[in-house]
Amino acid sequence: MKVLVVGGGGREHALCWAIAASPLLSRLWCAPGNAGIAEVAECVPIGAEDIPALVAFARGNAVDLVVGGPEAPLTLGLADACADAGIKCFGPSAAAARLEGSKAFTREVADAAGAPGARWRRFEDPAAAKAYVREQGAPIVVKADGLAAGKGVVVAASVAEAEAAIADIMESRIHGESGATVLIEECLIGQEVSFFALCDGRTALPLGAAQDHKRAFDGDTGPNTGGMGAYSPPPAFTAAMQDTVMARIVQPVLAEMAKRGAPFRGVLFVGLMITEHGPKLIEFNVRFGDPECQALMVRLRSDLLPALLAACDGELADFDLRWEPLHSLVVVMASRGYPGPYAKGTEIRGLERAAQVPGVQVFHAGTARREDGALIATGGRVLGITGTGATLAEARAAAYAAVDAIEWPEGFCRRDIGWRAL
Ligand code: AMP
Ligand code: GLY
Repeated sequence: MKVLVVGGGGREHALCWAIAASPLLSRLWCAPGNAGIAEVAECVPIGAEDIPALVAFARGNAVDLVVGGPEAPLTLGLADACADAGIKCFGPSAAAARLEGSKAFTREVADAAGAPGARWRRFEDPAAAKAYVREQGAPIVVKADGLAAGKGVVVAASVAEAEAAIADIMESRIHGESGATVLIEECLIGQEVSFFALCDGRTALPLGAAQDHKRAFDGDTGPNTGGMGAYSPPPAFTAAMQDTVMARIVQPVLAEMAKRGAPFRGVLFVGLMITEHGPKLIEFNVRFGDPECQALMVRLRSDLLPALLAACDGELADFDLRWEPLHSLVVVMASRGYPGPYAKGTEIRGLERAAQVPGVQVFHAGTARREDGALIATGGRVLGITGTGATLAEARAAAYAAVDAIEWPEGFCRRDIGWRAL
C-alpha cells in the first residue's frame, strides 16, 4: 500500500512514524515533511495547501491513501479533490471540516445534536454584541467566528475587556473577515481536556485523551502558542467521562452531520471543559492535535494504517484498537522568541544521544538539513521530545532526560509539562 501524508509538523512526523511501522505499507511519502520525517518517509516538496499538486502527485504515483494532517488542506477541500480523482483520503470533506472552520456552525450542530456546551449567541452587529455582554456580565468569552490562527478567542475577565475585544474583532477587524460574526459564550470553568475520536461517517472509535499546555512559559504564563507540551492519558478524564462524551457529544454530532449531508470522516478533536457538571464541549477541530497526536501515537499498539482505511471505508463498526499500558508526555522545544519573531537556521546537536534515552521518541516539527548535514531549526515549534513510561512521572523523567541531551542554545522549552497531573 502506498501512502501520502500531507503536512510537515510534529503531528505528521508521529503519523508517518506510526504508518511506517505497518506491514501493509509499501511506500510512504510526506508533503512537504521535515528532516525527521525524512528518516521514515520520502519528502516531496509540495506545500500542504497546494491541493492540485498534491492530487496530481498522488495520481502520478498510484497512491492508495492520502492522509490529511493539518486543518488547512482539509478546509480547502483536499478530501473532496481526492474523491473526485478516485483516491482514498483520510480526513473530512470541506463541508464536514466546517466543524473547525466556523464556530457558529459548530454550535448550531452541537445544539441540534443536544451536546452539552456553553450557552452562546451570535452577533453580526457590534452594538448588539456589547449590549448582550453588559447584560450577561463577566467573565465571558468573545470569539471571532472564522479561523483566526488560534487567536480569535478572548476569555474576558471584565465587561470592559469583552467590549474591547468585540471592537477589535468586529470594528477594527484585527483577524480580517473572520470577525464579521462573533460568538459570545458563557465562560466555562474547569480543566481542559482534548479528546479524539476516529470517525467513519457513522461510527466513532475512541482514540483517547490528552491535556496540553498552551502558554509559552512555566506556570502556564506568557502568550498562547500552538501547544508547548502534552500528556496522555489525563488523570482528570475518567473512563466514565469518555463514555459520556462518546454518547452525548460524538455519536449525536456524527448523526447530525450525516443528516445534514456532510458525514464526518477522519479524526474529530473534541475540546472539552471538565466542569463540575461534567464534560462540556468548547470546540471541535477536524484533525489530530499537535502535540497531542505525538502523545497518542506512542501509546497505540494496533497498526494505525488499517484503522485509517476502515475510517475511509465506513468499516469502523467492526474495528477495535489496542493501546499500550503506558503514559506519555511530550515536551516541545521551540525557537527562542516563539510565538513572536525568532531566528531561523540555528543548529541543533545531540539528537542521537537524546533518541537513545529509553522510552523516548524524538519527533521533528520544524527542522531541515543544511548542505553539510547539520540539523537546523526552521520553525517556531521545532522538536517534540516524547517520553513514555509505566507512570506519568516516568514518562516525564524520560522526556526531560532527552531534552537535557540536546544542545541548542537558541531553543527553549517549558520545564513543568504535566505539573497539574503530577
Ligand atoms: P477555541 O479556539 O474555541 O479552542 O478557544 C481557545 C481557548 O479559549 C480554549 O482552549 C479555552 O481555553 C478558551 N475557551 C474557549 N471557549 C471557552 C468557554 N466557553 N469558556 C471558557 N474558556 C473558553
Ligand atoms: N494543541 C492544540 C491544537 O493542535 O490545536
